[in-house]
Amino acid sequence: MPAVIVVGSQWGDEGKGKITDYLALQADVVVRYQGGPNAGHTVVVDGQEFQLHLLPSGILYPDKLSVIGNGVVVDPEVLVDEIHSLESRGIDTRGLRISARAHLIMPYHKLLDVLQEESMGARKIGTTLKGVGPAYMDKAARVGIRVGDLLEPDVFRDKLEVNLKDKNRIFQHFYGREPMSLEPILESYLAAAQVLRPYITETSVLINDAISRGQKVLFEGAQGTFLDLDHGTYPYVTSSHPVAGGACIGAGVGPTRIDKVIGVVKAYTSRVGDGPFPTELKDDTGALIREKGHEYGVTTGRPRRIGWLDLVMVKYAAVLSGFTGLAVTRMDVLSGFDTLKVAYAYRYRGQEITSFPSSLSVLSQCEPVYREFPGWPEIDPACRRLEDLHPNVRRYLEFVEEVTGLKVALVSLGRNRKDTLTLENVF
Ligand code: IMP
Ligand code: MG
Repeated sequence: MPAVIVVGSQWGDEGKGKITDYLALQADVVVRYQGGPNAGHTVVVDGQEFQLHLLPSGILYPDKLSVIGNGVVVDPEVLVDEIHSLESRGIDTRGLRISARAHLIMPYHKLLDVLQEESMGARKIGTTLKGVGPAYMDKAARVGIRVGDLLEPDVFRDKLEVNLKDKNRIFQHFYGREPMSLEPILESYLAAAQVLRPYITETSVLINDAISRGQKVLFEGAQGTFLDLDHGTYPYVTSSHPVAGGACIGAGVGPTRIDKVIGVVKAYTSRVGDGPFPTELKDDTGALIREKGHEYGVTTGRPRRIGWLDLVMVKYAAVLSGFTGLAVTRMDVLSGFDTLKVAYAYRYRGQEITSFPSSLSVLSQCEPVYREFPGWPEIDPACRRLEDLHPNVRRYLEFVEEVTGLKVALVSLGRNRKDTLTLENVF
């Protein structure tokens, strides 16, 4: 009766959507536990592409429950659009459940995200401007408005009034902007509430009951370990906890109920947004990988920064989340190169280190220490046995296992759901 958490082990966009969708086939319940519409998960089923921002990847299966946990911040407009767009493509969304405790992203959060980034100038974080950071700020400041409040219009109006008074002072006096008016916000949020009402419930109880009944529950992390508010490359991080511990808080389950944690590792590294990136490739090789892998943000369309695989990071991610196995993605994108590099250590002030530094100034002085590997020809995505993979692909995967001390359970060989090689059962 496993409960499995899927975590990104880099800076997001590791292919968690694809891996979650693949594993969801065997699950009964799929849960998003943090983040919000800043996430972009691409899932390809029978050649049809779906881009999900707030909905858990399990939504594409009609018979599963797909849960938006309390740790997620919900923009009702984005969510309603996403539900309608899936329904118009024939996807049944009745399995959706939304935590009444999840916080709402409000229009003033989105404006604040933009204004805060603008005022930071060169020190900007490079956020997705979806209002995620300001929504989590209000949650911590205990002035947030929650999904459940949408069901009580009077309570919602009161909270909105209090917030607007405060936010409008900031907009007018600090940023020299026009104030926001209450009525249009009230109207559009209460309209969205009508669509969302049937899905809103006490999700923590539902998830715990499912685990107790022996059902299979998959927890789907958004973003990645190095965007974690505590453990990532602060301040160039998101405002939530993508690490496995975040699933316990963001879904309301105890750590003793979790059986496995799968770290998703992209065969190279990417980052969207600012901040240090030791193995970054600013040359033609980076550009080539970007084009081959269509490495453009699903949420913002920004070109992603590309670099070689950094196992110093992956090893640290494995410790932070207690990975029990790995899923390596996008091996197909790396095909056709003469040589590939993988970092297994950093050189800092002449010394080789294998730990990931907490200081950004130390990290920006770290030079990756690489092992070179011979490349491989195009991979057949239909390959179903490790033995059928090119020996150089196997060597690359073996090095990942050697440095991390973890088994590779899944290898993604293409974008489609079916282009996945299972080496070890997860459920
Ligand atoms: P925010 O989450 O919009 O506040 O952005 C904070 C940082 O996290 C920025 O560097 C974003 O580019 C990054 N980020 C947020 N969500 C994702 C994601 O789903 N994939 C990759 N990067 C993300
Ligand atoms: Mg993404």
